[in-house]
Amino acid sequence: MEIFRLNLLCFLLSLLAFHVLLPASTAQLSAPETRILFQLRQMLEYPQGLQGWNNWTNFCYLPPSPSLAVVCSENHITQLTVAGDRVVQKLSDGFSIDSFFTVLTKLSRLETLSLVSLGIWGPLPAKISRLRSLQVLNISSNFITGEIPASIDGMKNLRSLVLAGNSFNGSVPDLAGLQSLQELDIKNNSLRSPIPPWIKDLNLLQRLDASLNKLVGPIPPSLFSLPSIQFLNLAGNQLSGALPSNLSCGSNLRFVDVSRNLLIGNLSGCIGSSSKNRTVLSSWNCLASGGSRYQHPYRFCRKEALAVMPPIIDKKSGEIRHESWIDSGNCRGNNWGCRSYWNSDFGGSQKSRKKPC
Ligand SMILES: *[C@@H]1O[C@H](CO)[C@@H](O)[C@H](O)[C@H]1NC(C)=O
Ligand SMILES: *[C@@H]1O[C@H](CO)[C@@H](O)[C@H](O)[C@H]1NC(C)=O
Ligand SMILES: *[C@@H]1O[C@H](CO)[C@@H](O)[C@H](O)[C@H]1NC(C)=O
Ligand SMILES: *[C@@H]1O[C@H](CO)[C@@H](O)[C@H](O)[C@H]1NC(C)=O
Repeated sequence: MEIFRLNLLCFLLSLLAFHVLLPASTAQLSAPETRILFQLRQMLEYPQGLQGWNNWTNFCYLPPSPSLAVVCSENHITQLTVAGDRVVQKLSDGFSIDSFFTVLTKLSRLETLSLVSLGIWGPLPAKISRLRSLQVLNISSNFITGEIPASIDGMKNLRSLVLAGNSFNGSVPDLAGLQSLQELDIKNNSLRSPIPPWIKDLNLLQRLDASLNKLVGPIPPSLFSLPSIQFLNLAGNQLSGALPSNLSCGSNLRFVDVSRNLLIGNLSGCIGSSSKNRTVLSSWNCLASGGSRYQHPYRFCRKEALAVMPPIIDKKSGEIRHESWIDSGNCRGNNWGCRSYWNSDFGGSQKSRKKPC
């Protein structure tokens, strides 16, 4: 009788343990996905924090750490966060970013993917867009080169796209399809293009960090009044021209940084000065407002803005035109959209032609 009672107790306890500690639906990562994790670890050349795995490691129940976090749902990985310490050192020459993403995209249920400071190098393969369920992609602080693949536009569920601290170059592709985007962080790359017009249609965008690139041309005034925008950092680019005097801001806009560009004119309207609810940073442009301390002289921005704009070759006349968005000086007050043209031949002589405001 005693033995029977003990057995029953054990049986009940084990039932309890099974149901409480290991809910049936998330008990064990599927064997193929377990193999993928081992493969990825090898391709990443065994980063710190991914050591000590063995055949009995249950990845769905690893205690999360800053270097590794795995979340599973129904035996599939839905979140994978790996952070390394390769800040200055790339992975070896044997690393293939293409093979790496081929393996990675087999984790078809991924919703969050964060691969930071792992030394990943090479061009980002277009096949990354096979991760259809992805909502958060953070591949910051690696050594990824080349253009941002246009295929990312197909990742309709993306809420957060963080490509900061890589070597992306060329222009920002058309990402107008990412209508769920709340955060776009392309900080500290080598992107050279105007700020793309589609950004003004991202109604849910809260955070835009495009600082430390080589972006050129004017700042679209509509960026400041995006309905959800809170944080706007465009510092350290080559943005030029003047902002309109009647600029309006979204009600949640708390932080604006346009420092270290080639802006002229005055900052006025809602970004005229910092206030209790809004920080505005604007040093090292050629702005007339805010005193002339920490600003370059006007001629500096004029010269630099001309130098960074690619020349336009007139199809009819064959004339080479350097077009700049610099206000000609005749349009004070409402100089938005007002341009001057500098026509120059290869001999370097410049003449200007004004366009009516
Ligand atoms: C893990 O299992 C594989 C076979 O499934 C075996 O070859 C390998 O030696 C095992 N590794 C360890 C650390 O037990
Ligand atoms: C990207 O991931 C790293 C590591 O998990 C994190 O520290 C960082 O805040 C993330 N960046 C953004 C912009 O979310
Ligand atoms: C920008 O990225 C480079 C590496 O590409 C890094 O060394 C540097 O610290 C980063 N700068 C900032 C301000 O994040
Ligand atoms: C971008 O960088 C790659 C090498 O990393 C180079 O081959 C390519 O020409 C660059 N593209 C532009 C537009 O500068």
